[in-house]
Amino acid sequence: MKIFLVYVHPNPRSLNATLRDHAIAVLKREGHEVRVSDLYAMKWKAVADADDFPERDNSLPLEYMTASGEAYETGTQAEDIAAEQEKLKWADAVVFQFPLWWFGLPAILKGWIDRVFAFKFAYGYKNAGNTYRYGDGALAGKRTLLSVTVGGPEVDYGPRGINGPLEHLLFPMTHGSLFFPGMSVLPTFAVYGTVKVDEAGVDAAKHALEARLVHLFLDEPTPFRAQNEGDYPDRHTLAPHIAAGISGIPAHIATRLPNVLATAAAMNFVDIPETEYDAEE
Ligand SMILES: Cc1cc2nc3c(=O)[nH]c(=O)nc-3n(C[C@H](O)[C@H](O)[C@H](O)COP(=O)(O)O)c2cc1C
Repeated sequence: MKIFLVYVHPNPRSLNATLRDHAIAVLKREGHEVRVSDLYAMKWKAVADADDFPERDNSLPLEYMTASGEAYETGTQAEDIAAEQEKLKWADAVVFQFPLWWFGLPAILKGWIDRVFAFKFAYGYKNAGNTYRYGDGALAGKRTLLSVTVGGPEVDYGPRGINGPLEHLLFPMTHGSLFFPGMSVLPTFAVYGTVKVDEAGVDAAKHALEARLVHLFLDEPTPFRAQNEGDYPDRHTLAPHIAAGISGIPAHIATRLPNVLATAAAMNFVDIPETEYDAEE
């Protein structure tokens, strides 16, 4: 299969670099083709601005969304944007390797999404407004995995941990940016406590990542609810009987009660004692 690895770290001796190198070795050993975008090494331009549209009359005020859609459709985007879109289209799976910075993505990665996920490509697909989104879209059929290093200890990201669950913090990327144009998003792989990690911890992290990569095409994706499969009758809001009584992020995980509780608990979305649900049902 074809794997696109987006690697985000400024330091070639970092834990992230070690995990990237291990990921490439494992994926190749498994028989996959691998392409890598190393955003810092590429000096990726993170800011979305008028320079992204070299053929546009930039004396006019910039409406980024409109300009992005026109440039995508007419093949007049900046070359770096078009090259990343080509890699996304090529890939069967996209793996992101990055550190958690301020509860989210390093800015260079956010800027990669802002610029590469163009209007008419990743949103407004087929010129049909919101018709194709959340499970449907240009990237449907592709898998994606976030591999994230986290400075703080796992307990801080537990169901009632002081930082909030990691899957909540990453929901803007997993649900809002990757599931939105149709990708199947695997549960996040995280290495915690990276500020103090020793050699044994690095080895454990490499082994754990390896296990996830070997199962890249086998693991069940996070069952985000698809927009067009009935749970959102008006394409905007959940039907009253779907995840009744649950609001916010956990409501968008698709399973029926009581399994919604099991799934939510398993993914750290909510804290539910195991005695209150039957994970086997
Ligand atoms: C700008 C910045 C912001 C950070 N924000 C967080 C954070 O919000 N939560 C956290 O647990 N660790 C945070 N960290 C720690 C990093 O996650 C940690 O340094 C990284 O995972 C270690 O991997 P590396 O050696 O490959 O950089 C932050 C580090 C930096 C430099």
